[in-house]
Amino acid sequence: MALICRSFFLFVLISLFVSYGSAEVRFTDLRSVGRSIVPFDQFGFTHTGRLELNVSKIDLSNKNPDIDLAKVGFFLSTLDAWMHVFQQLADGEVTCALESDLIKVVSDFKAAKGKSRFDVVIPVSNADQYTLVFANCLSDVKVSMTVRSAMYNLEGKQNIRDYLSAGQTILPRVYFLLSLVYFSLAAIWIYVLYKKRLTVFRIHFFMLAVVVLKAFNLIFESEDKSYIKRTGSAHGWDVLFYIFSFLKGIMLFTLIVLIGTGWSFLKPFLQDKEKKVLMIVIPLQVVANIAQVVIDETSPFGADRITWKQVFLLVDVICCCAVLFPIVWSIKNLREAARTDGKAAVNLMKLTLFRQYYIVVICYIYFTRVVVYALETITSYKYFWTSVLAGELATLAFYVFTGYKFRPEAHNPYFAIDDEEEEAAAEQLKLEDEFEL
Ligand SMILES: *[C@@H]1O[C@H](CO)[C@@H](O)[C@H](O)[C@H]1NC(C)=O
Repeated sequence: MALICRSFFLFVLISLFVSYGSAEVRFTDLRSVGRSIVPFDQFGFTHTGRLELNVSKIDLSNKNPDIDLAKVGFFLSTLDAWMHVFQQLADGEVTCALESDLIKVVSDFKAAKGKSRFDVVIPVSNADQYTLVFANCLSDVKVSMTVRSAMYNLEGKQNIRDYLSAGQTILPRVYFLLSLVYFSLAAIWIYVLYKKRLTVFRIHFFMLAVVVLKAFNLIFESEDKSYIKRTGSAHGWDVLFYIFSFLKGIMLFTLIVLIGTGWSFLKPFLQDKEKKVLMIVIPLQVVANIAQVVIDETSPFGADRITWKQVFLLVDVICCCAVLFPIVWSIKNLREAARTDGKAAVNLMKLTLFRQYYIVVICYIYFTRVVVYALETITSYKYFWTSVLAGELATLAFYVFTGYKFRPEAHNPYFAIDDEEEEAAAEQLKLEDEFEL
């Protein structure tokens, strides 16, 4: 298990270096920026893209009229071009990124000389993913300014602005459809609970709550994204979305722990060490959610964001590893019981169920963390939504599996066992002991 957690952590670390900005209209204050390069948002343009830049409160530390302000300005660059520009800078072919012919200059400060603000709109017709970058190549000038940047694509005959990046523009629909799926699941679950009301445990109502929260979470995420798509800002809906993500996150992890312990269907109480796991996981989920909010609300290249992303990943890894412990303990207890209480078949059945659950939880965690990040990295920006969909489908599969395997049962299979089955089970347990499976 330690190995699982360690390799998992390594994979996830790599994802730190992948970032897809959901480019909202963004306001950035820069104060006394010396010779340096400052990346802003990343955005996937179609061939009808636009970049709108409003720079105000410009203040240069050096008012000398002879300085070459063509070496201070904004440009757009693809990731690929950026690698080559780095090479050009290293080889001395150019002395400033703004001089390279590989990038698209948006505006330099020469045009704005003397003024305290300027506005530009430039069309982007080469569909690609670009990063907006500010470069100051002068060592004796410090620049302060307020930047409003908006990137969008024009859609349809009416040229409606679409503030979502090319690979994300269908996300509102994806989230909406998924939320319908979860609302249907919730309805089915209510029906099952009603039909099997005599064998329903408290954990089954907990499961219902998790599914309903997930459905609401998705519908608010859909509304949040579609609001960004239309207006470039997220006000209002993002708060609801964060609240529901937060509740869903806590409830889901708690549910995995509770099922792992066998709470309510195997035993009515939690052991102390199991309670401890919950007391670790729940506060960590609070931290993870705070980190998620900060990550979403800050510019993708800010220093804060990297720190919070590290916090988030660390906390997430700890939570994911912690939830595995109760399952492992349950498996151990069941094996122990099988040997001593003489009900091998019943225990073997439970054991198999918990082993399956253990493997499925690991697969779910791996898939939604590692595989999804890998997909984000290898797929083109245009298909960013496919990695989101893959993650959501894996989550859906996990919910369905959990619901199906731990559904309320009218005929408790544990009691309908004949001697032959009992003997076979005892035999298998003995074999397992010999081979230490
Ligand atoms: C930003 O600049 C564009 C282009 O000049 C202009 O249409 C827009 O109104 C400006 N926005 C703000 C907030 O100043």
